[in-house]
Amino acid sequence: MAHLVTLIAGDGIGPEVALAAERVIAATGVQIEWERVELSGDRIRATGESLPADVVASIEKTKVGLKGPVTTPVGGGFQSVNVALRKKLDLYANVRPVKSLPGLHTRFDDVALDMVIFRENTEDLYSGLEHEVVPDVITSIKVITRTASTRIARAAFRFGSRHLRKRVTAIHKANIMKLADGLFLRCCREIAADYPHLIYNELIVDNASMQLVTRPEQFDILLMPNLYGDILSDLAAGLVGGLGVAAGANLGDHHAVFESVHGSAPDIAGQGKANPTALLRSSVMMLEHLKEMEAAKRLQQAIEYVYREGDSLTPDVGGTATTDQFTAALVRFLKS
Ligand code: NAI
Ligand code: MG
Repeated sequence: MAHLVTLIAGDGIGPEVALAAERVIAATGVQIEWERVELSGDRIRATGESLPADVVASIEKTKVGLKGPVTTPVGGGFQSVNVALRKKLDLYANVRPVKSLPGLHTRFDDVALDMVIFRENTEDLYSGLEHEVVPDVITSIKVITRTASTRIARAAFRFGSRHLRKRVTAIHKANIMKLADGLFLRCCREIAADYPHLIYNELIVDNASMQLVTRPEQFDILLMPNLYGDILSDLAAGLVGGLGVAAGANLGDHHAVFESVHGSAPDIAGQGKANPTALLRSSVMMLEHLKEMEAAKRLQQAIEYVYREGDSLTPDVGGTATTDQFTAALVRFLKS
């Protein structure tokens, strides 16, 4: 039976990478019936609806979405639909594997990295609670709750336990935000106590940033509130080849939306240069979620094969191929 999955192509490079994902997933032989819904900056501007009802309704029905990026205006304009969607569907865990690809040269060629970021996805400074107290004085409210901190911590430790990981590192700034990040840490410690076989440690976010650049191989699972998770995800993506290869999943108790770490990349949109690897690695996670283990494995093998061959890669990872040529190479491998 075919799986029913919501497909949100998004905007910018979104439609280009979503088309690549559709073609490559089809080539794995897995049966997926896509329910397409439109979510884009243009649609939101045109309708004034920050989160169109049909998008939410579709994912509520299918339970699973594959999503391209959606542009959010910087400073003013409408609220981020990405944040709105995560909150509306209570997709509280943003899970982002950071894994080296064989054959892809980076500044860290000598170490194979394999870490997973667990980023809290519903609160912190992303609550959108900003006020102009008096002209030229703004407050932006950071919200940290026991409920949200505990469930992201539990998600990280449960994953660590199931996947035989060794260590969970909580990242914080509790030396300054003693109450907010202090609560986050207390929740992490409480959950850590239930998993004595996993090593638990804590690092202050500025130090963690430095260590990620100088000794990234020490990290395994990284657990953090929303803002640090957003920033360190892009930093970590840079360690393994950039945003073009960094996958992710937004998971809740009832729904899952798979999307890459990168945004809509307006600087290269429409030029056939976008690297779909990030969305394809997110698709591997989606296939595993759908229990299509064989298709997930084949897709992962196809990506690794094309990177090892190295002659069909997009410009962001040092190649000269177009999105189409890269996609065609994957499809050829999968059909062979
Ligand atoms: P971005 O991630 O779109 O781009 C940053 C840089 O990485 C650009 O130079 C871009 O060309 C490059 N890049 C990103 N993905 C790539 C890919 N697949 N292949 C090759 N190169 C790639 O970040 P930026 O420019 O800060 O944000 C652009 C827009 O995207 C903003 O409106 C932002 O709000 C939105 N955004 C949306 C997200 C989502 O839908 N989940 C996540 C992050 C940003
Ligand atoms: Mg981000």
